[in-house]
Amino acid sequence: MQMRFLFFTFIYSSCAQQLLFPNDFKFGVATSSYQIEGGWNASGKGENIWDHMTHNNPKSIQDKSNGDIACDSYHLWKTDVQLLKNLGVHFYRFSLSWSRLLPNGLNNRINYDGVHYYNNLIDELLKYNIEPVVTLYHWDLPQGIQNIGGWPNIATADYFMDYAKVAFDLFGDRVKTWITFNEPIEICVSGYGGGDKAPRIIYPGISDYLCGKTILIAHAKVYHLYNNYYRAKQRGKIGITIDTAWNEPNDNTTLSKEASELSLQMQFGWWAHPIFSKNGDYPNVMKERIANISKLQNFKTSRLPNLINHEINYIKGTADFVGVNHYSTVLTSYQPLPKTIPVSFYNDLCVKSEVDPKWKPSAATWVKDVPWGLRKLLNWIKNEYSNPVTYVTENGYPDLGELNDVGRINYLQGYLKELLLAVVVDKCNVAAYTVWSLLDNMEWAEGYKLKFGLYNVNFSDPTRKRTAKSSVEFYKNIIKSRMIPFDNAEVYIL
Ligand SMILES: *[C@@H]1O[C@H](CO)[C@@H](O)[C@H](O)[C@H]1NC(C)=O
Ligand SMILES: *[C@@H]1O[C@H](CO)[C@@H](O)[C@H](O)[C@H]1NC(C)=O
Ligand SMILES: *[C@@H]1O[C@H](CO)[C@@H](O)[C@H](O)[C@H]1NC(C)=O
Ligand SMILES: *[C@@H]1O[C@H](CO)[C@@H](O)[C@H](O)[C@H]1NC(C)=O
Repeated sequence: MQMRFLFFTFIYSSCAQQLLFPNDFKFGVATSSYQIEGGWNASGKGENIWDHMTHNNPKSIQDKSNGDIACDSYHLWKTDVQLLKNLGVHFYRFSLSWSRLLPNGLNNRINYDGVHYYNNLIDELLKYNIEPVVTLYHWDLPQGIQNIGGWPNIATADYFMDYAKVAFDLFGDRVKTWITFNEPIEICVSGYGGGDKAPRIIYPGISDYLCGKTILIAHAKVYHLYNNYYRAKQRGKIGITIDTAWNEPNDNTTLSKEASELSLQMQFGWWAHPIFSKNGDYPNVMKERIANISKLQNFKTSRLPNLINHEINYIKGTADFVGVNHYSTVLTSYQPLPKTIPVSFYNDLCVKSEVDPKWKPSAATWVKDVPWGLRKLLNWIKNEYSNPVTYVTENGYPDLGELNDVGRINYLQGYLKELLLAVVVDKCNVAAYTVWSLLDNMEWAEGYKLKFGLYNVNFSDPTRKRTAKSSVEFYKNIIKSRMIPFDNAEVYIL
């Protein structure tokens, strides 16, 4: 270890230059429709599951807030593009609101005010050479589709494909990067498995796995649709965004190493293995684990719905890139199964997750500042799926809104340095990095308390005034220089 460390120190310091991100590496920022747009019922938009939940059960949000107005980006899109221009980002990742385009979720009625809104935004971005990177589904399902079961209903895959077709037809002449889903585990486990996200269906260990199968099939349908009917003409790329914390074994025991691997496979591999692995299908360890526990619970078959051969082949290989959302790390160790095992995803997983009290905290319990976790995760993905083209589609730091956001700057500096090492030293095939988020916004069940923005938004001000935080200058400089200021002696290999 010591030898290798010196070797790299020598190589890089002898160049007397800082490591640089490759010339074609792209930097961006991200948002999502429900979190920023507002205009919840403006000119023809239909109700979605977040509108429905926040209006009918305000207590489902910590501060009883909602996204009715949010950052009012439905009206302030021109201002937002000026902020992006000031940052000098290469791309802007945003999502389309399905129920703004198709008010009841179905393709028989298009809301042309919604079309107009996204056309304006896309054209304004292109005017300043900012590439639109578009997420089709960032959690805001039309309520009508939820009324017939939502994602656990396999029919939703076809409605999603119908919607995607409308989006490709309307915007695919200008949008060249498509992301089908954002963070499927949150959609399924938090939305249908007893978590805190809309539509808050509580049927853990059953409904979440049904949802998962629909999402995988829906993703594949939309990939094939694009690949077979649009790719030749529109020449874009299409992928999916998956999230996980890095799971570091808490000690050097085999049991802890197995627990970490199980955790990565069940959270990230659930989605990535069917799409990016050589053999497809869910990860073996996940199938075995859920089958074992289902049996202990007296189920006659596994609660994880099977993928038949035809489905495995249909899903395998359906992405041009893997999007990775990553915020933090946990220390994972073995936990014995309890005597009676309640039915749920987390009991199927059954590992112990802790954090090191020495890690720098943030305003969210689930985010600690642990930069090396990003590098380890990117290397795990490289090894697991034959070094796929990877975009970091979200990474960011929550605080309570300070304008001189040194916590955010430290976090970004650390994570960007580890990203740079992953790209330059480890040769991970990462082509893009995205900060969550452009703006302080509606952080789902956590409401407006947590602030992730590079720009502050005054939510008491009817004009939703935006103000740059210190991190704007910081990120701007990194984009311009392609360089993270740090000492070459810190270059190490994993
Ligand atoms: C939209 O919702 C607001 C409340 O958020 C309500 O005051 C207004 O009348 C609604 N507008 C339409 C067009 O339904
Ligand atoms: C695990 O082993 C490695 C070397 O084999 C050592 O550097 C590391 O400190 C050990 N970690 C723990 C948590 O014991
Ligand atoms: C499933 O159960 C079998 C038989 O008890 C065991 O050998 C295997 O390790 C278990 N697999 C998982 C992933 O728990
Ligand atoms: C936010 O806007 C409100 C209403 O315009 C104003 O009273 C308040 O001073 C603003 N807050 C800050 C921190 O600028």
